[in-house]
Amino acid sequence: MTDVQNGSGVLRRIFASDSSTAPATATSRSSSAMTGTAASRPSSPCIPRHWAPLWAAPGSPYASEEEAVQDALNLARGMSYKNALAGLDLGGGKAVIIGDPAHITEGGIKTEALLRAYGRFVQSLGGRYITACDVGTYVADMDVIARECDYVTGRSPEYGGAGDSSVLTAFGVFQAMRACAQHRWGAPTLAGRRVGVSGIGKVGHYLVGHLVEDGAQVVITDVRPDAVERIRAAHPGVEVAADTEALIRANLDVYAPCALGGALNDATVAALTATVVCGAANNQLAHAGVEKDLADRGILYAPDYLVNAGGVIQVADEIGGFVFDRAKAKAAKIYDTTLEIFARAEADGVPPAVAADRLAERRMADVGRLRSILVPADAGAEAGVPADAGAEAGSPVRRG
Ligand SMILES: NC(=O)c1ccc[n+]([C@@H]2O[C@H](COP(=O)([O-])OP(=O)(O)OC[C@H]3O[C@@H](n4cnc5c(N)ncnc54)[C@H](O)[C@@H]3O)[C@@H](O)[C@H]2O)c1
Repeated sequence: MTDVQNGSGVLRRIFASDSSTAPATATSRSSSAMTGTAASRPSSPCIPRHWAPLWAAPGSPYASEEEAVQDALNLARGMSYKNALAGLDLGGGKAVIIGDPAHITEGGIKTEALLRAYGRFVQSLGGRYITACDVGTYVADMDVIARECDYVTGRSPEYGGAGDSSVLTAFGVFQAMRACAQHRWGAPTLAGRRVGVSGIGKVGHYLVGHLVEDGAQVVITDVRPDAVERIRAAHPGVEVAADTEALIRANLDVYAPCALGGALNDATVAALTATVVCGAANNQLAHAGVEKDLADRGILYAPDYLVNAGGVIQVADEIGGFVFDRAKAKAAKIYDTTLEIFARAEADGVPPAVAADRLAERRMADVGRLRSILVPADAGAEAGVPADAGAEAGSPVRRG
């Protein structure tokens, strides 16, 4: 199957990109993210052998294989920061399959065989990469991949999985928004605030539910009329803006980008009426420097990878046997971390995006250094602790 071979070829190239050769490419978050310390590179996770889950399949094919590799590397790097800040013992990784992720019967490339071939490839990595849903993939896809692979999260509850990660992603964004309200207005509630949500898909629609329940006035927009209708049916009091441009110009207290990346560019920052930005979308800052423009305009920006970590927290919990309440309690800590980031940003005189990068980099460096403490392979054997499966026979184990 050509598609499968192509996809695997890209994956092999990404995994072959060791930290010594992988470019410390800039993400769009902030200039401090470009420092390229060893721990910040995608193949230098703070905890060895585990690569963070997520499978990104593009909505439309990449222009070239090179572009796909670069996107995967950037996204992997972002996952390192997200996992570090969320307190997870995972590094950063991403997988990309080139092609339209629609099912083959709908003009895309997705088939059972393609998903299973992807599963066999991930299995061949022996647990160094754990996959899960992202753009273009769903819980049902994970169940198919899991027929060939032990390293899959985000499966359906029937198969012991955590299910749809959007549930805790939205919950985490809401917690971060409460922290924004606490920081800006002195109370951890959105009651009485006007909140604009752009993109009411998997995450956005759950977020609207939390906001309505909290007493916020919600304004939504989406390019899909059926998504808008679904929200209007569930929450008749919600207002609808014509498009994202109209939404950001509307009279808002909070803007929540929950669609695609790059939502915050020079034009949108200049037009925003909201004084708080807090949303689920990945890579919201269109280019380095936007975080400073936001701060200069007095707009409080809650860093994207900090606030949207609930989903990876949810699926990571599946690794040890999923317990929803445990995962939810971890996602609730996004509230505290957001407040901590704002306090650090003020103390250091930097935008919150820079403060978040610094804290993530510190954890990667500090925990990464622990690997220099060698643990003998037989340590713990008397206590019944199994030796590290990844260790070579007779060699010291570097336990994560
Ligand atoms: N699902 C998760 O658990 C999760 C976790 C972390 C981050 N994210 C990020 O959050 C964002 C949303 O994820 P999702 O899972 O809800 O995706 P989704 O595809 O279910 O929803 C996205 C919605 O945005 C709408 N949209 C697209 N372009 C738009 C535009 N120009 N204006 C307005 N609406 C537009 C789509 O029609 C869709 O309804 C993505 O950036 C994703 O990477 C999601």
